[in-house]
Amino acid sequence: MLARPNFLVPADFPLDPSRRREVDVRIVSSAPTDAQVLGVPVTASGEVPEAVGLGRAELRALGFTASQGATLVVPSGSGPTVIAVGVGDGALGTGQLRDASAALARAASGFTRVASLLAEAADPEEEAEPVTEALVEGAVLARYRYDALKTDPTTVPLERLYLVGGGSDAAVQRALTLAHAGMLARDLASAPPAHLTATRFADLAAELGPQYGLEVDVYDREQLIELGCGGLLGVNAGSVEEPRMVRLRYRVEHPAGHLGLVGKGIMYDSGGIALKPGDVMHQAMKMDMSGAAAVFSAMLALRDLDCPSDVTGYLMCTDNMPSGSATALGDVLHMRSGTTVEVKNTDAEGRLVMADALALATEEGVDAVIDIATLTGAALRALGTLIAPVFGNDQRIVDQVMSASRRSGEELWQLPLDRRLRRQLDSVVADLANIGGPHAGATTAALFLAEFVGDTPWAHLDIAGTMQSDRDDAWRTKGPTGFGARLLAEFATAFAPTR
Ligand code: BES
Ligand code: MN
Ligand code: ZN
Repeated sequence: MLARPNFLVPADFPLDPSRRREVDVRIVSSAPTDAQVLGVPVTASGEVPEAVGLGRAELRALGFTASQGATLVVPSGSGPTVIAVGVGDGALGTGQLRDASAALARAASGFTRVASLLAEAADPEEEAEPVTEALVEGAVLARYRYDALKTDPTTVPLERLYLVGGGSDAAVQRALTLAHAGMLARDLASAPPAHLTATRFADLAAELGPQYGLEVDVYDREQLIELGCGGLLGVNAGSVEEPRMVRLRYRVEHPAGHLGLVGKGIMYDSGGIALKPGDVMHQAMKMDMSGAAAVFSAMLALRDLDCPSDVTGYLMCTDNMPSGSATALGDVLHMRSGTTVEVKNTDAEGRLVMADALALATEEGVDAVIDIATLTGAALRALGTLIAPVFGNDQRIVDQVMSASRRSGEELWQLPLDRRLRRQLDSVVADLANIGGPHAGATTAALFLAEFVGDTPWAHLDIAGTMQSDRDDAWRTKGPTGFGARLLAEFATAFAPTR
Protein backbone atom coordinates (compact mmCIF):
# COMPACT_ATOMS: atom_id res chain seq x y z
CA MET A 1 0.00 0.00 0.00
CA LEU A 2 1.12 3.52 -0.76
CA ALA A 3 1.87 5.77 2.14
CA ARG A 4 1.44 9.48 1.66
CA PRO A 5 3.92 11.17 -0.66
CA ASN A 6 7.39 11.97 0.61
CA PHE A 7 7.60 15.47 -0.82
CA LEU A 8 5.42 16.57 2.08
CA VAL A 9 8.15 15.64 4.52
CA PRO A 10 11.46 17.49 4.45
CA ALA A 11 14.29 15.25 5.63
CA ASP A 12 15.53 17.72 8.24
CA PHE A 13 12.12 18.42 9.73
CA PRO A 14 13.08 20.03 13.04
CA LEU A 15 11.51 18.30 16.01
CA ASP A 16 14.54 17.79 18.20
CA PRO A 17 14.05 19.91 21.34
CA SER A 18 17.82 20.12 21.92
CA ARG A 19 18.04 22.15 18.71
CA ARG A 20 15.87 24.84 20.22
CA ARG A 21 17.71 28.04 21.02
CA GLU A 22 18.09 28.37 24.78
CA VAL A 23 16.92 31.54 26.44
CA ASP A 24 19.73 32.79 28.67
CA VAL A 25 18.02 33.65 31.95
CA ARG A 26 20.03 35.56 34.54
CA ILE A 27 19.17 36.58 38.08
CA VAL A 28 20.51 40.10 38.66
CA SER A 29 20.22 42.75 41.38
CA SER A 30 19.67 45.61 38.96
CA ALA A 31 18.95 45.88 35.22
CA PRO A 32 22.20 45.61 33.20
CA THR A 33 22.96 48.28 30.61
CA ASP A 34 22.63 45.92 27.63
CA ALA A 35 18.93 45.28 28.36
CA GLN A 36 16.88 46.76 25.52
CA VAL A 37 13.65 46.65 27.49
CA LEU A 38 12.83 47.26 31.12
CA GLY A 39 9.53 45.73 32.27
CA VAL A 40 8.13 47.66 35.24
CA PRO A 41 5.09 46.55 37.27
CA VAL A 42 2.53 49.31 37.80
CA THR A 43 -0.30 48.97 40.31
CA ALA A 44 -3.76 50.33 39.55
CA SER A 45 -3.52 52.89 42.36
CA GLY A 46 -0.79 54.47 44.46
CA GLU A 47 2.66 55.53 43.33
CA VAL A 48 3.83 55.00 39.75
CA PRO A 49 7.47 53.77 39.85
CA GLU A 50 9.91 56.47 38.84
CA ALA A 51 11.42 54.23 36.13
CA VAL A 52 8.21 54.61 34.10
CA GLY A 53 8.94 58.32 33.65
CA LEU A 54 5.24 59.23 33.48
CA GLY A 55 2.68 60.07 36.13
CA ARG A 56 -0.68 58.48 36.79
CA ALA A 57 -2.60 61.14 34.83
CA GLU A 58 -0.35 60.76 31.78
CA LEU A 59 -0.70 56.94 31.90
CA ARG A 60 -4.49 57.33 32.05
CA ALA A 61 -4.41 59.75 29.14
CA LEU A 62 -2.62 57.03 27.16
CA GLY A 63 -5.42 54.61 28.04
CA PHE A 64 -3.34 52.60 30.53
CA THR A 65 -5.21 51.87 33.76
CA ALA A 66 -2.73 49.23 35.01
CA SER A 67 -5.36 46.51 34.96
CA GLN A 68 -3.92 43.03 35.35
CA GLY A 69 -2.00 41.98 32.23
CA ALA A 70 -2.27 45.31 30.36
CA THR A 71 0.98 46.68 28.92
CA LEU A 72 2.11 50.08 27.67
CA VAL A 73 5.29 50.71 25.75
CA VAL A 74 6.71 54.01 26.99
CA PRO A 75 8.99 55.60 24.42
CA SER A 76 12.22 56.90 25.87
CA GLY A 77 14.89 59.14 24.38
CA SER A 78 17.77 57.25 25.94
CA GLY A 79 18.30 53.98 27.82
CA PRO A 80 16.06 50.94 27.52
CA THR A 81 12.50 51.07 26.30
CA VAL A 82 10.26 50.92 29.34
CA ILE A 83 7.22 48.66 29.26
CA ALA A 84 4.69 49.31 32.00
CA VAL A 85 2.93 46.10 33.02
CA GLY A 86 -0.38 46.40 34.83
CA VAL A 87 -0.48 44.33 38.02
CA GLY A 88 -3.82 45.42 39.53
CA ASP A 89 -3.49 45.50 43.32
CA GLY A 90 0.14 44.39 43.08
CA ALA A 91 0.09 41.19 45.19
CA LEU A 92 0.18 38.59 42.47
CA GLY A 93 0.07 34.82 42.86
CA THR A 94 2.21 32.62 40.63
CA GLY A 95 -0.53 32.17 38.03
CA GLN A 96 -0.93 35.93 37.67
CA LEU A 97 2.85 36.41 37.58
CA ARG A 98 3.17 33.86 34.76
CA ASP A 99 0.53 35.78 32.82
CA ALA A 100 2.10 39.18 33.55
CA SER A 101 5.51 37.93 32.46
CA ALA A 102 3.96 36.58 29.27
CA ALA A 103 2.31 39.94 28.62
CA LEU A 104 5.66 41.71 29.06
CA ALA A 105 7.53 39.28 26.79
CA ARG A 106 4.88 39.70 24.12
CA ALA A 107 4.86 43.52 24.35
CA ALA A 108 8.65 43.26 23.94
CA SER A 109 8.35 40.96 20.93
CA GLY A 110 10.69 43.11 18.80
CA PHE A 111 13.56 42.83 21.29
CA THR A 112 16.02 40.08 22.20
CA ARG A 113 17.24 41.25 25.65
CA VAL A 114 14.59 41.97 28.26
CA ALA A 115 14.95 42.92 31.93
CA SER A 116 11.96 42.29 34.19
CA LEU A 117 11.15 43.89 37.53
CA LEU A 118 7.97 41.85 37.87
CA ALA A 119 9.20 39.87 40.90
CA GLU A 120 8.45 43.06 42.86
CA ALA A 121 4.75 42.53 42.21
CA ALA A 122 4.66 39.09 43.84
CA ASP A 123 2.38 38.51 46.80
CA PRO A 124 4.77 38.50 49.80
CA GLU A 125 3.19 35.16 50.80
CA GLU A 126 4.63 33.50 47.68
CA GLU A 127 8.01 31.78 47.91
CA ALA A 128 10.89 32.93 45.72
CA GLU A 129 11.31 29.70 43.71
CA PRO A 130 7.78 29.37 42.30
CA VAL A 131 7.83 33.11 41.57
CA THR A 132 11.01 32.75 39.51
CA GLU A 133 9.60 29.69 37.78
CA ALA A 134 6.39 31.46 36.83
CA LEU A 135 8.25 34.49 35.45
CA VAL A 136 10.55 32.33 33.31
CA GLU A 137 7.78 30.05 32.04
CA GLY A 138 5.49 32.95 31.14
CA ALA A 139 8.12 34.82 29.14
CA VAL A 140 9.57 31.80 27.33
CA LEU A 141 6.21 30.25 26.45
CA ALA A 142 4.75 33.56 25.24
CA ARG A 143 7.66 34.03 22.84
CA TYR A 144 7.24 30.53 21.36
CA ARG A 145 6.50 30.42 17.64
CA TYR A 146 6.17 27.43 15.36
CA ASP A 147 8.00 28.77 12.34
CA ALA A 148 9.64 25.55 11.13
CA LEU A 149 7.60 25.71 7.93
CA LYS A 150 7.88 29.45 7.26
CA THR A 151 10.23 30.35 4.41
CA ASP A 152 11.15 33.63 6.08
CA PRO A 153 10.43 33.47 9.79
CA THR A 154 9.85 36.96 11.18
CA THR A 155 10.07 35.94 14.82
CA VAL A 156 12.58 37.86 16.93
CA PRO A 157 13.79 35.30 19.49
CA LEU A 158 13.99 36.14 23.18
CA GLU A 159 17.70 35.61 23.76
CA ARG A 160 18.25 36.90 27.25
CA LEU A 161 15.94 37.50 30.19
CA TYR A 162 17.20 39.37 33.24
CA LEU A 163 15.14 38.77 36.36
CA VAL A 164 15.79 41.63 38.72
CA GLY A 165 15.73 40.85 42.45
CA GLY A 166 15.85 37.36 43.92
CA GLY A 167 15.35 33.86 42.65
CA SER A 168 17.78 31.00 42.20
CA ASP A 169 19.50 29.38 39.26
CA ALA A 170 17.95 26.04 40.26
CA ALA A 171 14.49 27.56 39.87
CA VAL A 172 15.48 28.98 36.48
CA GLN A 173 16.70 25.58 35.28
CA ARG A 174 13.54 23.88 36.49
CA ALA A 175 11.39 26.45 34.71
CA LEU A 176 13.33 26.10 31.47
CA THR A 177 12.93 22.33 31.63
CA LEU A 178 9.18 22.70 32.08
CA ALA A 179 8.88 25.36 29.39
CA HIS A 180 10.78 23.11 26.99
CA ALA A 181 8.31 20.33 27.70
CA GLY A 182 5.46 22.68 26.86
CA MET A 183 7.15 23.84 23.66
CA LEU A 184 7.99 20.34 22.46
CA ALA A 185 4.34 19.38 22.95
CA ARG A 186 3.40 22.42 20.82
CA ASP A 187 5.92 21.48 18.12
CA LEU A 188 4.49 17.98 17.93
CA ALA A 189 0.88 19.16 17.77
CA SER A 190 1.77 21.80 15.17
CA ALA A 191 3.44 19.27 12.89
CA PRO A 192 1.27 18.47 9.85
CA PRO A 193 -0.20 14.98 9.82
CA ALA A 194 1.91 13.83 6.87
CA HIS A 195 5.06 14.94 8.69
CA LEU A 196 4.27 13.36 12.01
CA THR A 197 2.80 9.93 11.35
CA ALA A 198 2.54 7.30 14.07
CA THR A 199 5.72 5.68 12.73
CA ARG A 200 7.62 8.96 12.72
CA PHE A 201 6.47 9.79 16.26
CA ALA A 202 7.70 6.38 17.42
CA ASP A 203 11.03 6.86 15.60
CA LEU A 204 11.41 10.24 17.27
CA ALA A 205 10.67 8.71 20.69
CA ALA A 206 13.22 5.95 20.09
CA GLU A 207 15.80 8.54 19.10
CA LEU A 208 15.19 11.15 21.80
CA GLY A 209 14.06 8.99 24.73
CA PRO A 210 17.47 7.45 25.52
CA GLN A 211 19.13 10.89 25.31
CA TYR A 212 16.83 11.97 28.15
CA GLY A 213 17.29 8.85 30.28
CA LEU A 214 14.25 6.88 29.09
CA GLU A 215 14.00 3.28 27.94
CA VAL A 216 11.85 3.13 24.83
CA ASP A 217 9.99 0.14 23.41
CA VAL A 218 8.11 0.52 20.15
CA TYR A 219 5.35 -1.93 19.21
CA ASP A 220 4.44 -2.31 15.54
CA ARG A 221 1.32 -3.79 14.00
CA GLU A 222 2.47 -7.42 14.36
CA GLN A 223 3.39 -6.94 18.00
CA LEU A 224 0.11 -5.18 18.72
CA ILE A 225 -1.75 -8.16 17.26
CA GLU A 226 0.27 -10.40 19.56
CA LEU A 227 -0.63 -8.21 22.55
CA GLY A 228 -4.31 -8.27 21.58
CA CYS A 229 -4.63 -4.48 21.35
CA GLY A 230 -7.90 -4.57 19.43
CA GLY A 231 -8.71 -0.97 20.25
CA LEU A 232 -5.62 0.53 18.64
CA LEU A 233 -5.76 -1.97 15.74
CA GLY A 234 -9.47 -1.37 15.15
CA VAL A 235 -8.98 2.37 14.86
CA ASN A 236 -6.00 1.84 12.56
CA ALA A 237 -7.83 -0.58 10.26
CA GLY A 238 -8.71 2.05 7.64
CA SER A 239 -5.26 3.60 7.37
CA VAL A 240 -2.32 3.11 4.99
CA GLU A 241 -0.10 4.16 7.91
CA GLU A 242 0.89 1.54 10.47
CA PRO A 243 -0.04 2.07 14.13
CA ARG A 244 2.57 2.36 16.83
CA MET A 245 2.43 1.93 20.55
CA VAL A 246 5.38 3.48 22.35
CA ARG A 247 6.22 2.50 25.91
CA LEU A 248 8.54 4.85 27.74
CA ARG A 249 10.17 3.97 31.02
CA TYR A 250 11.79 6.29 33.49
CA ARG A 251 13.41 4.44 36.39
CA VAL A 252 15.15 5.49 39.59
CA GLU A 253 17.03 3.52 42.19
CA HIS A 254 14.65 3.62 45.16
CA PRO A 255 11.35 4.70 43.61
CA ALA A 256 8.83 6.56 45.74
CA GLY A 257 6.14 4.93 43.60
CA HIS A 258 5.30 3.72 40.13
CA LEU A 259 3.15 5.96 37.99
CA GLY A 260 1.50 5.13 34.66
CA LEU A 261 0.77 7.79 32.04
CA VAL A 262 -1.33 7.20 28.92
CA GLY A 263 -1.66 9.63 26.00
CA LYS A 264 -4.07 9.66 23.06
CA GLY A 265 -2.02 9.78 19.88
CA ILE A 266 -4.49 10.12 17.02
CA MET A 267 -2.17 11.66 14.45
CA TYR A 268 -5.17 12.78 12.42
CA ASP A 269 -8.82 12.21 13.26
CA SER A 270 -10.97 12.20 10.13
CA GLY A 271 -13.78 10.51 12.04
CA GLY A 272 -13.23 7.26 10.12
CA ILE A 273 -16.29 5.87 8.33
CA ALA A 274 -18.32 8.35 10.43
CA LEU A 275 -16.46 11.07 8.53
CA LYS A 276 -16.38 14.49 10.17
CA PRO A 277 -18.07 17.37 8.35
CA GLY A 278 -15.82 20.06 6.84
CA ASP A 279 -16.27 22.73 9.50
CA VAL A 280 -13.42 24.76 11.01
CA MET A 281 -13.13 22.81 14.21
CA HIS A 282 -11.98 19.79 12.28
CA GLN A 283 -9.03 21.61 10.77
CA ALA A 284 -7.57 21.08 14.21
CA MET A 285 -7.63 17.29 14.06
CA LYS A 286 -3.89 17.02 13.40
CA MET A 287 -3.71 18.01 17.08
CA ASP A 288 -5.62 14.91 18.16
CA MET A 289 -2.28 13.52 19.37
CA SER A 290 -1.88 16.31 21.95
CA GLY A 291 -2.31 13.85 24.84
CA ALA A 292 0.52 11.64 23.60
CA ALA A 293 2.61 14.76 22.98
CA ALA A 294 2.02 15.86 26.58
CA VAL A 295 3.03 12.46 28.01
CA PHE A 296 6.14 12.25 25.82
CA SER A 297 7.25 15.83 26.52
CA ALA A 298 6.62 15.49 30.27
CA MET A 299 8.64 12.27 30.40
CA LEU A 300 11.63 13.84 28.65
CA ALA A 301 11.72 16.33 31.55
CA LEU A 302 11.70 13.79 34.41
CA ARG A 303 15.45 13.27 34.73
CA ASP A 304 16.19 17.00 34.80
CA LEU A 305 13.45 17.46 37.41
CA ASP A 306 14.90 14.65 39.58
CA CYS A 307 11.56 12.86 39.62
CA PRO A 308 11.71 10.38 42.54
CA SER A 309 9.15 7.88 41.15
CA ASP A 310 9.27 5.32 38.37
CA VAL A 311 7.09 6.39 35.47
CA THR A 312 5.83 4.24 32.60
CA GLY A 313 4.25 6.07 29.70
CA TYR A 314 2.19 4.78 26.79
CA LEU A 315 1.72 6.71 23.55
CA MET A 316 -1.15 5.20 21.53
CA CYS A 317 -0.49 6.31 17.98
CA THR A 318 -2.44 5.90 14.75
CA ASP A 319 -4.54 8.04 12.48
CA ASN A 320 -8.28 7.45 12.14
CA MET A 321 -9.13 7.11 8.44
CA PRO A 322 -12.01 5.86 6.30
CA SER A 323 -11.35 3.28 3.58
CA GLY A 324 -12.48 -0.11 2.37
CA SER A 325 -10.61 -1.76 5.20
CA ALA A 326 -11.83 0.62 7.92
CA THR A 327 -13.79 -0.53 10.95
CA ALA A 328 -17.52 -0.33 10.20
CA LEU A 329 -20.32 0.71 12.54
CA GLY A 330 -21.45 -2.46 14.27
CA ASP A 331 -18.03 -4.10 14.19
CA VAL A 332 -16.94 -5.56 17.51
CA LEU A 333 -13.38 -5.12 18.76
CA HIS A 334 -11.60 -7.47 21.15
CA MET A 335 -9.65 -5.29 23.52
CA ARG A 336 -6.42 -6.05 25.41
CA SER A 337 -8.42 -6.52 28.62
CA GLY A 338 -10.61 -9.21 27.03
CA THR A 339 -13.59 -6.85 26.91
CA THR A 340 -15.57 -6.78 23.65
CA VAL A 341 -16.62 -3.36 22.32
CA GLU A 342 -19.26 -2.61 19.71
CA VAL A 343 -18.20 0.34 17.57
CA LYS A 344 -21.32 2.43 17.20
CA ASN A 345 -19.40 5.47 16.03
CA THR A 346 -15.93 5.35 14.46
CA ASP A 347 -15.40 8.97 15.52
CA ALA A 348 -15.35 7.90 19.17
CA GLU A 349 -11.92 6.39 18.50
CA GLY A 350 -9.86 7.97 21.27
CA ARG A 351 -11.37 5.87 24.03
CA LEU A 352 -10.68 2.71 22.00
CA VAL A 353 -6.94 3.31 21.74
CA MET A 354 -6.72 4.52 25.35
CA ALA A 355 -8.48 1.42 26.70
CA ASP A 356 -5.70 -0.93 25.56
CA ALA A 357 -3.00 1.16 27.24
CA LEU A 358 -4.99 1.57 30.46
CA ALA A 359 -5.28 -2.22 30.59
CA LEU A 360 -1.55 -2.67 29.98
CA ALA A 361 -0.62 -0.07 32.60
CA THR A 362 -2.85 -1.61 35.25
CA GLU A 363 -1.53 -5.10 34.41
CA GLU A 364 1.89 -3.79 35.38
CA GLY A 365 0.59 -2.94 38.83
CA VAL A 366 1.25 0.80 38.72
CA ASP A 367 0.28 2.71 41.89
CA ALA A 368 -1.82 5.13 39.83
CA VAL A 369 -2.51 5.88 36.20
CA ILE A 370 -3.25 9.25 34.63
CA ASP A 371 -4.55 9.51 31.10
CA ILE A 372 -4.72 12.58 28.91
CA ALA A 373 -6.70 12.80 25.70
CA THR A 374 -8.36 15.21 23.28
CA LEU A 375 -11.37 13.04 23.87
CA THR A 376 -14.67 14.86 23.45
CA GLY A 377 -16.16 17.95 21.85
CA ALA A 378 -18.41 17.88 24.93
CA ALA A 379 -15.44 18.91 27.12
CA LEU A 380 -14.91 21.92 24.88
CA ARG A 381 -18.59 22.85 25.00
CA ALA A 382 -18.79 22.42 28.79
CA LEU A 383 -15.70 24.35 29.90
CA GLY A 384 -14.30 26.18 26.86
CA THR A 385 -10.66 26.49 25.90
CA LEU A 386 -9.05 27.62 29.17
CA ILE A 387 -10.09 24.89 31.62
CA ALA A 388 -10.02 21.11 31.10
CA PRO A 389 -12.28 18.66 32.91
CA VAL A 390 -10.69 16.05 35.16
CA PHE A 391 -12.44 12.86 36.24
CA GLY A 392 -11.21 10.12 38.55
CA ASN A 393 -11.98 7.12 40.73
CA ASP A 394 -9.74 8.16 43.64
CA GLN A 395 -10.14 11.59 45.18
CA ARG A 396 -6.61 11.69 46.59
CA ILE A 397 -5.15 11.18 43.12
CA VAL A 398 -7.47 13.79 41.62
CA ASP A 399 -6.38 16.17 44.40
CA GLN A 400 -2.71 15.60 43.52
CA VAL A 401 -3.51 16.30 39.86
CA MET A 402 -5.38 19.49 40.84
CA SER A 403 -2.43 20.64 42.90
CA ALA A 404 -0.04 20.08 39.95
CA SER A 405 -2.50 22.02 37.83
CA ARG A 406 -2.30 25.01 40.17
CA ARG A 407 1.51 24.95 40.01
CA SER A 408 1.56 24.77 36.21
CA GLY A 409 -1.23 27.26 35.56
CA GLU A 410 -2.88 24.69 33.28
CA GLU A 411 -6.35 24.87 34.76
CA LEU A 412 -8.61 21.94 35.59
CA TRP A 413 -12.11 21.58 36.96
CA GLN A 414 -13.27 18.29 38.42
CA LEU A 415 -16.46 16.81 36.95
CA PRO A 416 -18.29 13.89 38.58
CA LEU A 417 -17.77 10.34 37.34
CA ASP A 418 -21.51 9.68 37.59
CA ARG A 419 -21.88 5.88 37.54
CA ARG A 420 -25.63 6.19 36.91
CA LEU A 421 -24.81 7.03 33.27
CA ARG A 422 -22.85 3.80 32.79
CA ARG A 423 -25.84 1.94 31.33
CA GLN A 424 -25.74 4.26 28.31
CA LEU A 425 -22.68 2.25 27.29
CA ASP A 426 -24.57 -1.07 27.22
CA SER A 427 -24.48 -2.94 23.92
CA VAL A 428 -26.91 -5.59 22.67
CA VAL A 429 -24.14 -7.70 21.14
CA ALA A 430 -20.94 -6.87 23.06
CA ASP A 431 -19.78 -6.06 26.61
CA LEU A 432 -19.71 -2.33 25.90
CA ALA A 433 -20.61 0.22 23.23
CA ASN A 434 -18.15 2.97 22.40
CA ILE A 435 -20.66 5.83 22.69
CA GLY A 436 -23.30 6.86 25.20
CA GLY A 437 -26.36 9.03 24.70
CA PRO A 438 -26.60 12.61 23.46
CA HIS A 439 -25.87 14.25 26.84
CA ALA A 440 -22.87 14.38 29.21
CA GLY A 441 -20.53 13.19 26.48
CA ALA A 442 -17.35 13.91 28.45
CA THR A 443 -18.71 11.85 31.35
CA THR A 444 -19.76 8.84 29.28
CA ALA A 445 -16.33 8.86 27.61
CA ALA A 446 -14.70 8.89 31.08
CA LEU A 447 -16.99 6.07 32.20
CA PHE A 448 -15.88 4.05 29.18
CA LEU A 449 -12.22 4.49 30.19
CA ALA A 450 -13.04 3.63 33.81
CA GLU A 451 -14.01 0.13 32.64
CA PHE A 452 -10.34 -0.56 31.84
CA VAL A 453 -8.55 0.54 35.02
CA GLY A 454 -10.19 -1.83 37.51
CA ASP A 455 -9.54 -0.45 40.99
CA THR A 456 -6.22 1.18 40.16
CA PRO A 457 -6.32 4.82 41.30
CA TRP A 458 -6.90 6.78 38.11
CA ALA A 459 -7.50 10.28 36.81
CA HIS A 460 -8.51 11.31 33.30
CA LEU A 461 -7.85 14.71 31.69
CA ASP A 462 -9.98 15.61 28.67
CA ILE A 463 -7.99 18.30 26.83
CA ALA A 464 -10.17 18.60 23.71
CA GLY A 465 -10.98 22.21 24.67
CA THR A 466 -7.59 23.32 25.95
CA MET A 467 -5.39 21.76 23.24
CA GLN A 468 -5.41 24.96 21.20
CA SER A 469 -5.90 28.69 21.60
CA ASP A 470 -7.56 30.88 19.00
CA ARG A 471 -5.37 33.84 19.95
CA ASP A 472 -2.20 34.85 21.74
CA ASP A 473 -3.34 34.88 25.34
CA ALA A 474 -0.91 35.10 28.29
CA TRP A 475 1.45 32.07 28.11
CA ARG A 476 -0.64 30.47 25.35
CA THR A 477 0.28 31.27 21.77
CA LYS A 478 -2.24 31.05 18.96
CA GLY A 479 -2.42 27.40 17.92
CA PRO A 480 -1.48 24.34 20.00
CA THR A 481 -1.00 25.15 23.70
CA GLY A 482 1.01 22.11 24.80
CA PHE A 483 -1.54 21.84 27.63
CA GLY A 484 -0.74 19.07 30.09
CA ALA A 485 2.98 18.61 29.44
CA ARG A 486 4.04 20.86 32.33
CA LEU A 487 1.16 19.67 34.50
CA LEU A 488 2.11 16.00 34.10
CA ALA A 489 5.78 16.71 34.74
CA GLU A 490 4.85 18.61 37.92
CA PHE A 491 2.47 15.83 38.95
CA ALA A 492 4.97 13.01 38.42
CA THR A 493 7.67 14.86 40.34
CA ALA A 494 5.41 15.28 43.38
CA PHE A 495 3.55 11.96 43.06
CA ALA A 496 2.80 10.11 46.31
CA PRO A 497 1.05 6.71 46.02
CA THR A 498 -2.35 6.70 47.68
CA ARG A 499 -2.32 3.02 48.63
N1 BES B 1 -10.93 14.10 18.67
C1 BES B 1 -12.32 14.19 18.86
C2 BES B 1 -12.70 15.17 19.98
C3 BES B 1 -12.35 16.63 19.76
C4 BES B 1 -13.31 17.50 19.30
C5 BES B 1 -11.11 17.11 20.06
C6 BES B 1 -13.01 18.83 19.14
C7 BES B 1 -10.81 18.45 19.90
C8 BES B 1 -11.77 19.31 19.43
C9 BES B 1 -12.90 12.84 19.25
O1 BES B 1 -12.26 11.74 18.69
C10 BES B 1 -14.32 12.81 18.75
O2 BES B 1 -14.50 12.81 17.58
N2 BES B 1 -15.27 12.74 19.69
C11 BES B 1 -16.64 12.70 19.37
C12 BES B 1 -17.26 11.60 20.19
C13 BES B 1 -18.69 11.29 19.79
C14 BES B 1 -18.69 10.62 18.44
C15 BES B 1 -19.28 10.38 20.83
C16 BES B 1 -17.25 14.04 19.73
O3 BES B 1 -16.88 14.61 20.74
O4 BES B 1 -18.07 14.53 18.96
MN1 MN C 1 -13.04 11.24 16.75
ZN1 ZN D 1 -10.24 12.02 18.23
